[in-house]
Amino acid sequence: MKIEDLVQKEVRNLSCYEVETILGRKLCEKIVKMDFNENFAMPRDIIEKLLLDACRSIDVRAYPPPRGCMAVKAISTFLGFNESEISVANGADEVMDLLMKVFVRRGSKVLVVEPTFPMYTFFAQLYGGKTVTSMLGPNFELDVDAILKKAERDTSLLFVCSPNNPTGNQFRETDIKRLLQEFNGVVVVDEAYADFARYSVINWVRDYENLAVLRSFSKAFGLAGLRLGYLVSNSTLVKYVQRVMDPFNLNVITQQLITFALQNWNYFEERINFVVNEREWLIDNLKRVDGVTPYPSDANFILFKVTNGNLTSAIVKERLENRNVLVKDRGHLPLLENCIRVTVGTRNMNKTFLSALKESLEE
Ligand SMILES: Cc1ncc(COP(=O)(O)O)c(C=O)c1O
Repeated sequence: MKIEDLVQKEVRNLSCYEVETILGRKLCEKIVKMDFNENFAMPRDIIEKLLLDACRSIDVRAYPPPRGCMAVKAISTFLGFNESEISVANGADEVMDLLMKVFVRRGSKVLVVEPTFPMYTFFAQLYGGKTVTSMLGPNFELDVDAILKKAERDTSLLFVCSPNNPTGNQFRETDIKRLLQEFNGVVVVDEAYADFARYSVINWVRDYENLAVLRSFSKAFGLAGLRLGYLVSNSTLVKYVQRVMDPFNLNVITQQLITFALQNWNYFEERINFVVNEREWLIDNLKRVDGVTPYPSDANFILFKVTNGNLTSAIVKERLENRNVLVKDRGHLPLLENCIRVTVGTRNMNKTFLSALKESLEE
């Protein structure tokens, strides 16, 4: 017996999703982590207090509330939606996985607008789906006609990431509406970064039965380590997602913590506003650095291009890393030659990044 012969073809062909991480290196105080769009502007002591309060209120000897129903209740109260319109999972990533389980089988087509978050393609391939790609326009806008042209009758899912990772822009409302009206399948709008943006499409769920919205607590709430994401859609779609779910998918600490966190929304809101202001400060300062050009952003990260002809984004990323500043090189992606993505941090982190960047460009 050979293990390889027993493994499903899709899994054999899949490469492990590589997460470049500092875990392999020593995580020291000196490292300025601006590579994963986490939120270090959220003070650690506040999160710690919520976590301790949560731990004191629960009993981990018992199984958690099924299908994350405690978290669902907290989120539905917070959003003003019915509980039947919400489903929770371990991060928006797991929500994607669940959607694929419901809609994708060998040969199904999944439409993805590139360059974007790579997990849509990863999960589609896992279930034997075929990813069809359409490119963003030159200003990173949705090319609605091109997308619709790529859509075939059996394309079940279309992923639109808005604000888009890694370009940072939120798409025009009218373009997303057109996709909802004209695409003959489910449009998944990934709003992992919408708390930092100008609008959200969540309320459109009431008008478009083919809309599924993904949200995450990893970014705006500074709770990436907790792993909590959710889906907002109509109750029929949500019901099918719940069918394919492990009944105890979400641990009780997460469910209790998020209940407390949403009761303290004012505090989180203040921190989100802080990040948005800091983002604009960082963009202004990047504009003054010779050799780079930043793009506008609606998220908690900024994409910028290395325009100093002697350098590539890979070299600049490496030089920043040598100065303990971690960023993401996105220069290998289509449309993004020599582009780097940097997460907005605290004022201190942003200042450290700026001086390390200037040194890296002059080295
Ligand atoms: C666009 C987008 N969607 C989803 C995720 C994953 O979110 P979560 O941490 O909730 O799984 C990320 C994380 O970087 C992201 O950039």
